Amino acid sequence: RIPIVTVIGSINMDLFGSTTRSPKVGETILGDRFHKEPGGKGTNQAVAASRLGAHVQMIGRVGDDDFGKQLLNNLVKENVDTEGVSKVPNQESGVAMITLTNHDNSIVVIPGANNFVTPEYVQDHEDLIKRSDIVLVQLEIPMDTIEHTATLCHKHHIPLVLNPAPANKLQQGLLEKTTFITPNEIEREQIFPGNEREVLNKWKNKLIITKGKRGVLFMDKDHFQEIPVYHVKAVDTTGAGDTFNGAFVYYWVKHQDLYTACKMVNVASALAVQQIGAQTGMPTDQEVAHFLSTNPS
Ligand code: RIB
Ligand code: NA
Repeated sequence: RIPIVTVIGSINMDLFGSTTRSPKVGETILGDRFHKEPGGKGTNQAVAASRLGAHVQMIGRVGDDDFGKQLLNNLVKENVDTEGVSKVPNQESGVAMITLTNHDNSIVVIPGANNFVTPEYVQDHEDLIKRSDIVLVQLEIPMDTIEHTATLCHKHHIPLVLNPAPANKLQQGLLEKTTFITPNEIEREQIFPGNEREVLNKWKNKLIITKGKRGVLFMDKDHFQEIPVYHVKAVDTTGAGDTFNGAFVYYWVKHQDLYTACKMVNVASALAVQQIGAQTGMPTDQEVAHFLSTNPS
């Protein structure tokens, strides 16, 4: 059966500028290259799951501007079900301004229409949530919407994955209603301060820490599980976390096992970072299978 995934989250246009170094405060420098591509953590995660073969239902909003049209077209092109996506009159679409240097990237996100993904808007799409195998959210839409989503998922016994990016304070009740929470190391320290092992022990089978090049860490029963990544030449890590989350919901529904799911996800992530742009390198399930057959672990 095809996994049914609902992603409730942001839809942005990513505006990339590449430079050799970041400008200092107050400084103007000339960059090398401009490049524009659909993004937003919600959309990126939806695309990652859809490429692998999930039926993805997106709940989100775009502006009534040109970017909005392009962003909607992109979702359709990626086979994402857009019944839950609509335009907000007189609003701009979400935009991310991304500065890419040789070593790193930095991002400013202007949410625009994403701020109109309200609790009421999600409530209006309760039927989409009810027919999902799993629901996935991030923190680029209002926090009260995330909390309402958790309440709906809890009510209908639908597993909920929370990718806490960008990091923000989370209510205890929200954490309890969440099935899996997937911070990177920086987000983990902000949201769950203290010793990594103690925190993992407290949130067994729920907290999954993504550590970039160093793989994925969680605790099940009484074991720490550390799943290494494949070593590849990373070209652009923008959206690496998004590939992780979109692939994670797909493989978790398929295998119902954290360890197996994370192993498969690491393959998808390794493929995604080998191309520029958040969505460009995200693989299909055939590409994952091919990688596995040519890169035995
Ligand atoms: O995670 C990467 C994403 O973060 C980009 O696509 C950008 O839109 C920002 O939301
Ligand atoms: Na990429």
